[in-house]
Amino acid sequence: MNSVKALAESPDLSCIPSIYINSANSTEPPASDLQDAIPTIDFSLLTSDNPKLRSQVIQELYFACKDWGFFRVINHSVTESLMNMVIEKSKEFFDLRDEEKKEFEENGVLDPIRYGTSFNSKKDEIFYWRDYLKIIVHPEFNCPNKPLGLREVLLEYSKRTREVVKGLLSGISTSLGLDQCYVEKALKLESGLQILVANLYPPCPQPELAIGFPPHSDHGLLTLLINNGVGGLQIKHKGKWVNVNNDLPNSFLVNTADQLEIFSNGKFKSVEHRAIVNNAVTRLSVVVANGPSLDAVVEPAYKLVTEERCPSAYNPMKYKEYLEMQQGNQIIGKTCLDRVR
Ligand code: SIN
Ligand code: FE2
Repeated sequence: MNSVKALAESPDLSCIPSIYINSANSTEPPASDLQDAIPTIDFSLLTSDNPKLRSQVIQELYFACKDWGFFRVINHSVTESLMNMVIEKSKEFFDLRDEEKKEFEENGVLDPIRYGTSFNSKKDEIFYWRDYLKIIVHPEFNCPNKPLGLREVLLEYSKRTREVVKGLLSGISTSLGLDQCYVEKALKLESGLQILVANLYPPCPQPELAIGFPPHSDHGLLTLLINNGVGGLQIKHKGKWVNVNNDLPNSFLVNTADQLEIFSNGKFKSVEHRAIVNNAVTRLSVVVANGPSLDAVVEPAYKLVTEERCPSAYNPMKYKEYLEMQQGNQIIGKTCLDRVR
């Protein structure tokens, strides 16, 4: 595999190979800096003894999902030092020698550990300026045995982030007028799929021509993102691209994904996002995609197929089939979701 890391480290690289040229860049207007407006959710209030504070934060969560599909989460139970270790150990994985990473090179789209480049290098017509490590961390925990300490750190992070997701989804369930455990039970979150993806975006000599991760929505319910403090993430808000920096200490960036759009019968649309690259520093992000159980059949919640939203706007589909469809093809905007509409 030709990693972007190796390419970026090659001496005298001043032009990118043509396979990395993303012609869409030249037609896109620049992103704006609206980010002060991005909602912030105080996670601790979801379990507050004060019912007024609880219902207030649930309402905030409702509007964050409905109007943005993207928000920050603060005051959760994951420590900053654990987040830093996740970033550090992921970086150490990419720093391993090629021979050590080779055994994980991508094969099947549901392989428990996949190391690769671009998105789906077998299908991509242009290549993205990104290397990745994808690991299925739940319901079964997998992990490369190198670098030292990666396994312990990711195991703890997977557990802790699942608690945050469980709390957020119970708030979201309530905000939709459903019982707080409804999402958890209907989508069998006990055995929910959790995939951790470390994305490496090395410096690019022509960042205006390349793209790190093209516009897409995520396949699961909720995605939690952290990064190494280097900007590059952009989300689409009301038809325009907005820069997002992870500028609140010890916070998660969270986005709503396709299965939540389906389950909510279109009330909470999955948000499109992308990652741009720069010519100065390496950007590293670690995202945790949290979905239903692989065997769950996802369709709009019965109570949300109301008179004004009748019939249901999405066809039922097994999450596993959806995931295979999304991961096995090129990633282009929300085209995967369009197939179940
Ligand atoms: C992703 O959507 O998985 C990548 C986001 C990022 O690198 O910030
Ligand atoms: Fe994503």
